[in-house]
Amino acid sequence: MRELFAIDTKDYNPDGLVHRRPSARAIIERDGKVLVMHSRKYDYFKFPGGGIEQGETPEQALVREVREESGCCVRPETIEEFGSVLRRNRDAHDPEAIFEQWNYYYFCDITDERVPIVQEDYEIEERFEALWADSLTELVVRNRRALRSGGDATLIEREMRIFDMADNALRRRRFEREEAEAIRALGEIMQEKTPSGDAGRGEITQEKTPSAVDYAGMLDYVKSVLEPVQTEGEGGIGTHKREFGYSRFEHTKRVLGWAKRLYERTEDKTGLRYEDLMIATIFHDVGRSESAKTGLMSHAAAGVPITREYLLGHGFPADRTEYICGLVGAHSDKWLKSDPAIDRNLLMLMEADDLDDMGALGIVMDCMVVRARNDRATYYDCYNHLCRYTRRIQRSSPMVTPEGRAFWDEETALVERFLELLRRDLTV
Ligand SMILES: [Fe+2]
Ligand SMILES: [Fe+2]
Repeated sequence: MRELFAIDTKDYNPDGLVHRRPSARAIIERDGKVLVMHSRKYDYFKFPGGGIEQGETPEQALVREVREESGCCVRPETIEEFGSVLRRNRDAHDPEAIFEQWNYYYFCDITDERVPIVQEDYEIEERFEALWADSLTELVVRNRRALRSGGDATLIEREMRIFDMADNALRRRRFEREEAEAIRALGEIMQEKTPSGDAGRGEITQEKTPSAVDYAGMLDYVKSVLEPVQTEGEGGIGTHKREFGYSRFEHTKRVLGWAKRLYERTEDKTGLRYEDLMIATIFHDVGRSESAKTGLMSHAAAGVPITREYLLGHGFPADRTEYICGLVGAHSDKWLKSDPAIDRNLLMLMEADDLDDMGALGIVMDCMVVRARNDRATYYDCYNHLCRYTRRIQRSSPMVTPEGRAFWDEETALVERFLELLRRDLTV
């Protein structure tokens, strides 16, 4: 298990006997709340859990301790490692000895069942209660206040730091869950169905039909191809993006989001091929590593054979494969936008691509670039860069369709408003 941090008070005799008492602790989230134990005596909080007994695995101890302390029943199949914390200090019960405790933290879910709580003596003495907390960051503050309450300061500090880290991790997990859900939902497209025999009467039923396209599989594949580009920090990513942790795969996912939003907002879907558009978007930058390696082709052209091989290898018919490859190969030819006869799927892919890294994201990105170039950068440096660079890019809209323009204008309005307030906030 990965070590999160260690607390070593070094207040012990280093040659002393070492008393070890490893423990397992649970991070359980339900309906946006997190299960914690509250010491009413010292007014601090900790995650439920406790000592691992002889012959027990950490996971078994976790299930038992959570059950005893909170009455909640852990679903063992959901247990997932978070990290460990080492604590080493003088043994409170034996001043000549060292108390060494590995704390193993796990994420897990519980069932709906509740059983009677069984408390140990010290838990009764500290008047522990199990409760569902709204915010772990608030508990960080509460524990900091409790550091001098007379309770076990090392433990209170440890949990304070773990709350902060767990809060981060939980937010990330929530985000990843939502993203996985969105990718799964990509396969459910709205298909318009006109009942037979009633054509032209305007009676259209909309039905969600699960698609057979394995979008998640495609994304995994593209990720595996793109990954080396990110670690090298090279490879055609605009020089300014090379200066911080810009991920080409994350860009791909965001463009996919934009393509989906554009598709949904567009009422007249004539000529639009949802599945092909989604697939082309997933593959649109897949040639980045190849073109970076060889330097011979544009990344768009390099993406064509990679896309072709994947699609044909996954049973796509040749004509459909070529159509999608055409979108990938032409996605950088932005001048085609002014051609009124441009393929609508290609135009939508281009607009989706252009919408990424603008507006809210553009502000964050450009500030990161400023900081990457100058580690003494000030608020004013950011303000200056946003005024001169970000605003200029934002004002030169490359959007052609009304739907694309609407999204772009929304982001532009944000940038203008942001700069207005930032200027005020920076002024005496
Ligand atoms: Fe591209
Ligand atoms: Fe792109």
